[in-house]
Amino acid sequence: SQPSTWSQRFESALHPAIAQFNASIGFDIQLIEYDLIGSQAHARMLAHTGIIAAAEGEQLVDGLEQIRQEYRQGLFVPGVEAEDVHFAVERRLTEIVGDVGKKLHTARSRNDQVGTDTRLYLRDQIQQIRQRVRSFQSILLTLAEQHVETLIPGYTHLQRAQPLSLAHHLLAYFEMSQRDWERLGEIYQRVNISPLGSGALAGTTFPIDRHYTAELLNFGGVYANSLDGVSDRDFAIEFLCAASLIMVHLSRLAEEVILWASEEFGFVTLKDSCSTGSSIMPQKKNPDVPELVRGKTGRVFGHLQGLLVLMKGLPLAYNKDLQEDKEALFDAVVTVRGCLEAMTILLQEGLEFRVARLQAAVNEDFSNATDVADYLAGKGVPFREAYNLVGKVVKMSLAQGKLLKDLTLDEWKTLHPAFESDIYAAIEPAQVVSARNSYGGTGFAQVRHALQNAKAALS
Ligand code: ARG
Repeated sequence: SQPSTWSQRFESALHPAIAQFNASIGFDIQLIEYDLIGSQAHARMLAHTGIIAAAEGEQLVDGLEQIRQEYRQGLFVPGVEAEDVHFAVERRLTEIVGDVGKKLHTARSRNDQVGTDTRLYLRDQIQQIRQRVRSFQSILLTLAEQHVETLIPGYTHLQRAQPLSLAHHLLAYFEMSQRDWERLGEIYQRVNISPLGSGALAGTTFPIDRHYTAELLNFGGVYANSLDGVSDRDFAIEFLCAASLIMVHLSRLAEEVILWASEEFGFVTLKDSCSTGSSIMPQKKNPDVPELVRGKTGRVFGHLQGLLVLMKGLPLAYNKDLQEDKEALFDAVVTVRGCLEAMTILLQEGLEFRVARLQAAVNEDFSNATDVADYLAGKGVPFREAYNLVGKVVKMSLAQGKLLKDLTLDEWKTLHPAFESDIYAAIEPAQVVSARNSYGGTGFAQVRHALQNAKAALS
């Protein structure tokens, strides 16, 4: 039978199906660049502390460099017999540099090694995702700048509520994304801690220098407790939380775009570059992009839930369950990146706001009713009284198939003597929006102020 990977305690090899079941090489090969960097830092530290000779350290570093070149050229393709990326690299290293390769794993375990690799990977990914959040924000800002004076119905309960500046609506997403960007930056701090040197769980008998490797790898600090170092996945869960929130935000916008693109709303036109047709209904133009974003959101939530459940009953320290963290992270990263990019392109060139339709929409509803009540309240009528009166006016107008702007001044005056001819200007949609000049409101002055702030946040 085949010899075993393990020490001579083992007499025979794994059952082939179990080898397949146990292996992570199929997905953790994605960590190889980080595994190599981590191993090079470890080798340098071993030489630096005199645990191995300086020349041996150099041989290890060079051998690892060669593996990087082989991998990049597609020449290093380890199979399932390697079990995981860590074993694959160590084996290849020993083939390249000979017996000195067997010294690499001195004072190290795959447990602190995989934790290091995962953090290095996530660190990079967080930076990339943050950049994509920035691109997404910047297109939101560009659109907002174009649409300060474009009005759009604002909804609560998906019922017409009060009209808004379209820029204000878009800037709400800018704010959500700003929190996403900040949140990723905060999480980065906790991802950026080195577990290397925690050993299997208890530290090591060798005089290692954990701060030295941490510095070589640009970590901001080291785990204070070796058990925590090898078994903590809080950083991964935090990332999945942040990723889930990004998806919540993208998915809400996606849902709005889907609604807006429907004939019933008609607020946007989807352009050909970002929509698809039907295989049977020739008239169709479907919002597949936002639908996919909405759909993929569930996957990311699933990964968060999966990792939380994975962790909840794990006794200290490392357990093989932890190998399951990687596919969750990798898929969440690819999904979030892809969705951010798709939504950015969709906003950039995939849709157009139908400004005339939007203008007509805000002119044809009762979303100025609050303003009639505010008008009276401004003249000293207690708001609740004014509110009740306007409710009556709306009921009456609906019965007569009229809008508020259709009432004559006589009718207004019969309803309440405080009404004067300026009531018409007060209920004009542009005035309704403009008047909401409270801090953070949709009034044009506020929106212009918010645009300045948004611009400053991006620069
Ligand atoms: N492939 C493993 C993982 O991803 C590496 C660590 C294995 N450690 C162990 N003691 N079996 O978690």
